[in-house]
Amino acid sequence: MSIWRRKPLQLLLNEAAESEKGLKRTLTAWSLIALGIGAIIGAGLFVRTATAAAQNAGPSVTIGFIVAAIGCALAGLCYAELSSSIPISGSAYTYTYATMGEFLAWIIGWDLILEYAVGAATVGIAWSEYLNNLLVTVLHTDPIPYALSHSPFQKVVDPVTHEVISQGIINLPALFIVGVISLLLIKGTQESAFVNGLIVIVKVAIVILIIVLGWQFINPANHATYIPAASTYTDDSGVSHNFGGIMGILGAAGTVFFAFIGFDAVSTAAQETKNPKRDMPIGILGSLAVCTVLYILFAHVLTGVATIEDFRTGGKEASVAFAINKYMIGYGWLGNFVTIAILAGFSSVILVMLLGQSRVFYSMGKDGLLPSFFSHLHPKYQTPYKANLVILVIVGLFAAFIPGDIVGDMTSIGTLFAFILVCISVIILRKREPNMVREFKTPFVPFVPLLGVGVCLAMIYGLGWLNWARLIGWMALGVVFYFAYSKKHSRLGKGE
Ligand code: ALA
Repeated sequence: MSIWRRKPLQLLLNEAAESEKGLKRTLTAWSLIALGIGAIIGAGLFVRTATAAAQNAGPSVTIGFIVAAIGCALAGLCYAELSSSIPISGSAYTYTYATMGEFLAWIIGWDLILEYAVGAATVGIAWSEYLNNLLVTVLHTDPIPYALSHSPFQKVVDPVTHEVISQGIINLPALFIVGVISLLLIKGTQESAFVNGLIVIVKVAIVILIIVLGWQFINPANHATYIPAASTYTDDSGVSHNFGGIMGILGAAGTVFFAFIGFDAVSTAAQETKNPKRDMPIGILGSLAVCTVLYILFAHVLTGVATIEDFRTGGKEASVAFAINKYMIGYGWLGNFVTIAILAGFSSVILVMLLGQSRVFYSMGKDGLLPSFFSHLHPKYQTPYKANLVILVIVGLFAAFIPGDIVGDMTSIGTLFAFILVCISVIILRKREPNMVREFKTPFVPFVPLLGVGVCLAMIYGLGWLNWARLIGWMALGVVFYFAYSKKHSRLGKGE
């Protein structure tokens, strides 16, 4: 059997009908927007905005947010068509298997590990940074020692003597939070709609508070050169980044793209939506629009309150709280509130990502592309607990031993690549299955998908060669695994 074998659509529909029994169409456009915002706002905004300002674009990180939002909106329209076309609340992986063949499905599934597992590690590392901030500035205790809260690739160097002052060994808090949430998932603890709603309100409230209260602390000098002249910036680890100019903005877009990841969660709820045709685009584009406006204003305020030097040195970790505490005199309470709320907000993002990853692994295990234990359900909790445990190990290793910037960029580039494949799938499918029922149709095909591919490619370009190399390396590993294991064990290949 060829590597292009496709899972029969009817088989998939049967599986879908089986697994989705009892799903009710209860969601409205508003609940979709809330779902989206809950999954979207996280470390991307509260940590990577400052990283992008420091390494790529200075205040013009705001323009980077606009570029990233355009790419997401275009890909989002394509995602909505794919996910609403067959009645499965699912992943690009399953869908590709039925339409573009096993090998590409595998490629998407393998790539989604970067989005979900590595993304969860990124947010875990950000959680660790804010935990230390909580210990020091809110609880006034000692922080967790540098060596035990940073990866071995991180160190603090004396700017004058260049001597190493502190050296990371392992990021224990990041490992801790990933472990706790994985165990929760195994127990099947679902976030109730109430808790999710509460977290959404708290997250949006902090962002609005920072924008409104911080506006008066904007120092015009920090915005004097809004788009810095093109140059390069070399970070502590010796990696150089394009800073300023167009390349700086594209680099910033690639970096802050992370802040939008999660809106595809909206499209996975297609089958629980009352009127998907109307509500899906409103939900996807609505949550993107709300977040984009908040992100641009937030980034404008943040880069106006603190200097680029702050983000490069002292403010690197927990940069938002740092900026508030240093410059917004009299608003110490806001810094404390932000720290506590961010810790809760990050936890919910990690939960959504780990859940997404376990669903993908579960499906791949069922199809035989991964060992079958990935799809074993816990006898009592009915959750794919073995998949969760393997994910815990993978995510834990990334969280404990790799710096946040690196895993963050890997998440961005991996997700951008998945979006490109999703955009292309829409075009191919229109040709291959013209009569398939589509509850939502992407407008202006092939123009919108092609533009989506273009904008995502531009952001991948902006992320720089080191990240391209990481993506190629990761995908090469996936191809080796496919031919060494998955192709032989595929249940479809074995004719089961
Ligand atoms: N968009 C999510 C975040 O920023 C992944 O944390």
